[in-house]
Amino acid sequence: MLENRRILLIVSGGIAAVKAPDLIRRLRERGAHVRCILTKGGAHFVTPLTLAALSGDKCYQELFDLKDEAEMGHIRLSREADIILVAPATADIMAKMVTGQADDLATTALLATDKPVMIAPSMNVMMWTHPATQSNLQILKDRAVKVVGPSAGDLACGEVGNGRMAEVSEIIAALTRFFQKSDGQGPLTGLRALVTSGPTHEPIDPVRYIANRSSGKQGHAVAAALAELGAQVTLVAGPTAEPDPDGVKVTHVETAKQMMKACTEALPAEIVVCAAAVADWSPQNADQKIKKGADKTPELKFAENPDILATLAQAGPTRPKLVIGFAAETENLIEAAKTKRAKKNVDWILANDVSPGSGTFGGDSNTVHLVTAEGVESWPTLRKRAVAERLAERIATFVERNL
Ligand code: C5P
Repeated sequence: MLENRRILLIVSGGIAAVKAPDLIRRLRERGAHVRCILTKGGAHFVTPLTLAALSGDKCYQELFDLKDEAEMGHIRLSREADIILVAPATADIMAKMVTGQADDLATTALLATDKPVMIAPSMNVMMWTHPATQSNLQILKDRAVKVVGPSAGDLACGEVGNGRMAEVSEIIAALTRFFQKSDGQGPLTGLRALVTSGPTHEPIDPVRYIANRSSGKQGHAVAAALAELGAQVTLVAGPTAEPDPDGVKVTHVETAKQMMKACTEALPAEIVVCAAAVADWSPQNADQKIKKGADKTPELKFAENPDILATLAQAGPTRPKLVIGFAAETENLIEAAKTKRAKKNVDWILANDVSPGSGTFGGDSNTVHLVTAEGVESWPTLRKRAVAERLAERIATFVERNL
């Protein structure tokens, strides 16, 4: 994916600049052309000679360099690339990008470019969490700047926390994803995914039904995120107000039984994500509307619905490679999720708290814990769309390693 891609690497002044040589080497191993701009700050950590030698090109440093401007002006420099990668991106360069300052070659190139920009932030944890940086980050994201990392860990300043530049492998993965996407491909291209979403409606008679409070927001977001990464997605959706996601085949159903049938028909698939809040029971339903005024109030008799997730996860030659379920609980969240994972033969369970105060049902955010064979990973409270994107990324990593 990186073969013959032209990457303009801006190395700004953070300790993570020492990772730039390795980054350049790995990019070139993959066939990318790398050209470097080194800021004054960056030059405290890595020499222009190193960057020039490894990139096989000149390392550009000065805005007012007559020779460079004649041979390769800053405008050309910023346009003769497929992407500009700022790694490391300091708090300072992020702030300058936001305000459009252009007082050196790097910031001028960033302002003059018409190409996509990716940043790999790296700084002290307090600088990273400072509202100024966080608001700059948001502005840059809103301007479609791609962001990779930072991650949490030991920082060079001795403190511990978020602010470490993403690993070289993560930056390469992010670039690969970017180019895949721009080619209309993704890490899940060629794979089929089946997603269930929303509630089910279980009829009592022709005009009444039993339902639950699921909005379908999370399941629909998962379907959209998988499609974004290139998967061929079938979404089996119970009744919801959510619009059909773009690029996804949607089958609308009402009852659990219909959902089961639609899912079976949508197979084979490599990936299954069951996010629907399927009714556990359906009432024996009357053919005609039940009339009031009879001697006694009607009694509902229930029969158990099929467990779609457990059925799809059953061992066998046609079992999808990765089966993921949700566990909506109001107490003992993680323990219940672990039990459910084992009982239903599911690979991953996303456990989420749906107790009344959590705001999960119908809300836009979700706090989930990813339970796998390896252990439990607690994610911060995220918007449902972000939970879906994170899950899709995790699925892509699984696919890279196992499929
Ligand atoms: O057992 P419980 O309903 O808590 O399990 C939740 C998980 O199982 C969710 O992933 C849900 O989509 C799935 N499920 C299902 N069919 C059912 C009940 C639950 O697919 N009948």
